[in-house]
Amino acid sequence: MAAKVKQIIVSDHDAMSVMAADVVAETLGANPRAAISLPTGSTPVGMFEELIRRSHQGTVDLSQFQMFCLDEYLGVSPNNPNTLTSWLFRTFIVPAGIPAENVHTLPVTAANTTAAAASYEEAIVTAGGLQLAVLGIGGNGHIAYNEPGSEADSRTRVVDLTEESIAQAAGYFDGATVPRQAMTVGVGTLLEAEQIVLIASGEAKQKIIREALQGPLSADVPASWLRLQPDKTTVIIDEAAARLLD
Ligand code: PGA
Repeated sequence: MAAKVKQIIVSDHDAMSVMAADVVAETLGANPRAAISLPTGSTPVGMFEELIRRSHQGTVDLSQFQMFCLDEYLGVSPNNPNTLTSWLFRTFIVPAGIPAENVHTLPVTAANTTAAAASYEEAIVTAGGLQLAVLGIGGNGHIAYNEPGSEADSRTRVVDLTEESIAQAAGYFDGATVPRQAMTVGVGTLLEAEQIVLIASGEAKQKIIREALQGPLSADVPASWLRLQPDKTTVIIDEAAARLLD
């Protein structure tokens, strides 16, 4: 049985967001050029707002860090407004004033996705390795788009999306058809980060947080693999998300 990861339970989404922003700011305070991966979804929005605020105040320097996206739909053009990358640009990268050349996006339109995925891994290594990976968790236990079935040693690759994830993505697709595959950074890639922070808030995450933190270590719940790295993983969750924990 793996050791327990550090769990920090805070009052609500705002408190979670401030604490997650603190971790990003501390990482950048120590190394403004750090490689950091940041998630998409409703969970990180408060963290992004906090980082944008601090960037405008001049209390965090976001001008030099290497930002690594975690996932993207396969085959979509970077100009498609429905993509995860476009969402990140609108929600965080542009308002925060992060130079676009510091943003690494998944090579989802490459002719050879296997080779392109390997190059993405190489880009992470060239940037010095991920100093910090901030992750959300899907209702099905996915981290990035490592869907159920993803093994602990999986690398950046193309994956089939579950119906649940496709339905969730439809909310961002404005009526357009959601691709059925994505490219995601692997679980193994994420487990190599120097520090890992998983954020979750709200009742909707109660069940999956319990399974991830207290259920079996299993590819059925990819987030459970984070418990293989208890010394460098911190889970920041609000009281609503933590309610079913022992
Ligand atoms: P959410 O998505 O933040 O919108 O809940 C999380 C995820 O699917 O990773």
